[in-house]
Parts: sequence; structure tokens; C-alpha cells
Amino acid sequence: MAELNPCGIVIFGASGDLAHIKIFPALYSLWDEGFFPKDFFITGFARTKMDDNQFRKTIHDSINIHCRKKPVDAKHFKDFSKHIHYLSSNYDDIKSYKSLKTFIEAKSAEYSMPKNFIFYLSTPPSVYESIVDGIENSGLVSDNYKGDGFSRIVVEKPFGCDYDSAKKLNDKILSVFQEKQVYRIDHYLGKETVQNILAFRFANAIFEPVWNNKYIDHIQISALESIGVGLRGGYFNNAGIIRDMMQNHMIQLLSLVATEPPAFFDAEDLRNEKIKLLKSIRRFTINDVKNYVVRGQYDRGIVDDDEEAVSYREEKGIPIDSITDTYVALKLFIDNYRWAGVPFYIRSGKRIKKHKTEIAIYFKKLPYSLFGKNSIEKIEQNVITITIQPNEGISLKIGAKSPGFKMEIDPVELSFFYKSSFKGTPPEAYERLLYDIMEGDQTLFYRTDNMLTAWKLITDIINGWKSLPAPSFPNYESGSWGPKEADDLINKDGRTWHNEI
Ligand SMILES: NC(=O)c1ccc[n+]([C@@H]2O[C@H](COP(=O)([O-])OP(=O)(O)OC[C@H]3O[C@@H](n4cnc5c(N)ncnc54)[C@H](OP(=O)(O)O)[C@@H]3O)[C@@H](O)[C@H]2O)c1
Repeated sequence: MAELNPCGIVIFGASGDLAHIKIFPALYSLWDEGFFPKDFFITGFARTKMDDNQFRKTIHDSINIHCRKKPVDAKHFKDFSKHIHYLSSNYDDIKSYKSLKTFIEAKSAEYSMPKNFIFYLSTPPSVYESIVDGIENSGLVSDNYKGDGFSRIVVEKPFGCDYDSAKKLNDKILSVFQEKQVYRIDHYLGKETVQNILAFRFANAIFEPVWNNKYIDHIQISALESIGVGLRGGYFNNAGIIRDMMQNHMIQLLSLVATEPPAFFDAEDLRNEKIKLLKSIRRFTINDVKNYVVRGQYDRGIVDDDEEAVSYREEKGIPIDSITDTYVALKLFIDNYRWAGVPFYIRSGKRIKKHKTEIAIYFKKLPYSLFGKNSIEKIEQNVITITIQPNEGISLKIGAKSPGFKMEIDPVELSFFYKSSFKGTPPEAYERLLYDIMEGDQTLFYRTDNMLTAWKLITDIINGWKSLPAPSFPNYESGSWGPKEADDLINKDGRTWHNEI
């Protein structure tokens, strides 16, 4: 990767967790690897009262815990941190934005660099609109968008809480920024294994010919966690898994595994193909929500072998009668030539037996078995498993003759693991995404139509739930594989969840 353009990055909400746990550790890694030019600066903007040195100290401590480049040498960090500044500010006070403008323009002049600014919204979403107003009213965008430099805005998830709120926020952002300036983050897309889905499909001649409804029986996408809601109760109880995982990460994984090949591997072509795919997903009627969507909420149980877990309703900040979903499983269909008739089973949940994110592609059963005793039922289907976490890699389950005098067929795995096949640690998702933002490459970010179409699908489910009877929660034990109804959803089609570990 090449050295990046000189730029100034402004992080709103810089006193918060995301800035400390992900953004600054990623920026430090990129700097440490030599991708930053000598001219750059990072400005933290938040209400907490701090001076530059206090802020730098919090960043130092946090990088020492969360950065893959830790431990951080003090002198080395000093070279990095002289580029970091902090402004104690208010999100709804125009004076704060005017001071910010004066500050970053002076810094650009000091470094003799163009007015290249990146505005990163790392606050709770309730503050996004005030920040966009502040940026607009202080002239931070209009002044530098005259050929002298670039402005980009980065928006964290959640982007809205349903179709209408996402559209409203998006309209607001697009009233100030152009689409090509907007980077909507889904950090899953920054993960190496997620990007590898496209490499696997389109850099190998042998898979694409069988990647369709003639050969594939069904596809399962799972993102399962053994952890509970932790300290995110306040946010999570309003979101549920449906918004926290399904609307963004799961739909993105689905679109990568199912999209048509783009004409070129660039942002517009890939996003054009993804939108065609998203529009082909069959919308959910209320009846579909009833029959093809299962929601769950965890009860007490034992996780990670011996840890006793409380129920969701006993977690900190969660109302005792909460009906928020901590698990969702659904079946959907893509109505196009490639996928007609192939069910996609998608599930995500908390407090599940094992932590894993994967895509399992099940090929059709043999049409006929040559091997008498091994009836067709006994010979397992070929399955390609793309593991996103943990143990990133890809495996293919095939049938092989087991040793001995008899012709017995047993399943074996051909596997590739990132850790053993490639040397060095891959960049963290946020490193990759921040690099692309500075580079101006939108390939790994949602475009308006992608984001809103995903919301349409999920809003159908959310609205469906509102008109169906309230669920009887909790309905699965912590440390189990999820609600029984989720097993029924797939078992009644003669299939089972890919619970292999
Ligand atoms: N943390 C993660 O791993 C993660 C992952 C994915 C996405 N996100 C998203 O990234 C954004 C930031 O996450 P975060 O965990 O850093 O959030 P956070 O710690 O709750 O908030 C970040 C900062 O925003 C300011 N803030 C908090 N509540 C506010 C309020 N009600 N009004 C105005 N300012 C407020 C605070 O700074 P001051 O009080 O100093 O102004 C706080 O330090 C959120 O939208 C979150 O959903 C986070």
C-alpha cells in the first residue's frame, strides 16, 4: 500500500470508547507502518474537559492495551502524538465549530497542505445531526470544497433505527455532503476474511461454475457470540440483534456471497452489483415474518464451559419485561436466475454455545451412490465453510474412502487457515477502513441505495413483529445453540444448522 495524502482528521466524540479502542489504535498502526505522510494532524472534539497532553495520555494508555503494535515505545509514541490535538467543545454550539475551523485551517497552513479534512462521527447517533449542522453552518465543508482539498464524512453504525430514520439522517448528510464524500462504516467489510469471499469466488476458476442453484442446496450465514449484552445494555435494548447485526453485517455477508461479479473491482461497479442483489431479496410479508423469522432472548445458563450467566432481563440497564431480541434466525429467498429456489438461513445471537461467524455453503446431495452400503443419505454433502472468526480460513468438506478393506466413505476436510498460510498479522478492520477513507476508496462502504434497501427488508420484519403477538421470552438458555423454534425453522426443511466447531 502506498503513502497516503496529507490530511487532517477530526474525531467527534474523541473521548469515547470507539475512538480509544479502535480508531486511535488503527491510526497508530498505520502511522507505525509508514503509511502516513509527514504532514497530517488528528483533532479530537468532545465535551470532556482535557488539554492536549491529557488527551494524548489517554490515547497512549489505550493504544498500549488495544493496538496490535503494543507495547508502544514512549519516544516513538511522542513522534506520533505531536500530531494529535484536542478541543473541548459542545456539539450544538456554533462557536465550537468556528473554533474548530480556525484551528484546522491554521494547522493546514502550518503544514502547507491542502484543506483535506476527514470528519469522523464517533458519538452516539443522537448527536449526528447536530454535528452535521455545525459543520455546515461554520462553513467547514463549503470553504474547502472548491478544488483546494477534500472533505469526507465518516458515519458509524447504527445508521438509523429503521427505514424512515435512516432516510432522514441520510437526507440530512446529503444536504451537506455529496455521496462520494460519505463513508458509512460497517467494520465487518474491513475484515480480511470478508474481503476474501470475493477473492475466493472470483480469483479461482473452479468455484464460480458451481456457485448457483444447480449445485448449491442452501446457504447458512451465522454470527454467534458467547458473550451477553455486557455494558451496552442501554443501546442494545433499543436495537436488538435485528438492528445490531442483521441490517448491516449479515446482509453485507449475504450480498458478498451471492452477488454477481462486477465489471471491475471498484466501488461503483461492486456497489451496483450489490444493489441488484439486495433488490432481488424477497420482501417479508407478515405471514413470512410469522413463518420464516424466529426471535429469541437468552435466559440464565452456563457459558464458556463453566461461567454462570444471568438472563438478558437481569443484565444491567435492561427492563425486567424487555421483549428485545438477542437472537434472530430467518430464512430468505433471492429471486433471480442464480439463486431461485435456494434458501438462505441466517442467524445471529448472543450467549450462544460457541463464538463463531461463518458462511456455510451446502452443495446438493449425490444423485446416486455407487457404493452400495453407503446409501446416499449416509454420504455427507460437500460443504464449503468460510470462517470469519475465530480461526479465519476456508474449508471444504469432501467424502473420502476410509482406510480398510471395505469401501466406506467418510467426511474429511481440506482446509486453509490465514494464520498458517500467510506470514505476519493482517491489518485490523479499522486500519483497512481508515486507510481507504484517507485514500478516497469507497469500495468497502455502503452507498445510500444499499443501506436503504437493507433497511427496507429489516423494517418489514420489525413492523411484522409489532403486529404479531408478543413473544414469550426468555426462550433459550445461555450456552445453548438458541431457541428450539430456530431448529424447527430449518429442520422442517430436512436440514440442520451447521453447529460443527
Ligand atoms: N464501541 C464500539 O466498539 C462501537 C462499535 C461499532 C459502532 N460503534 C458506534 O460508534 C459510535 C461511538 O461509540 P462509542 O462506544 O465510542 O460511544 P460512547 O463512548 O458512548 O460515546 C462517544 C463520546 O460521545 C460523547 N457522548 C456520549 N453520549 C453523548 C450524548 N448523549 N450526547 C452527546 N455526546 C455524547 C461522549 O463524549 P463527551 O461527553 O466528551 O462529549 C463520549 O465519550 C456510536 O455511534 C456507536 O454506536 C461503536
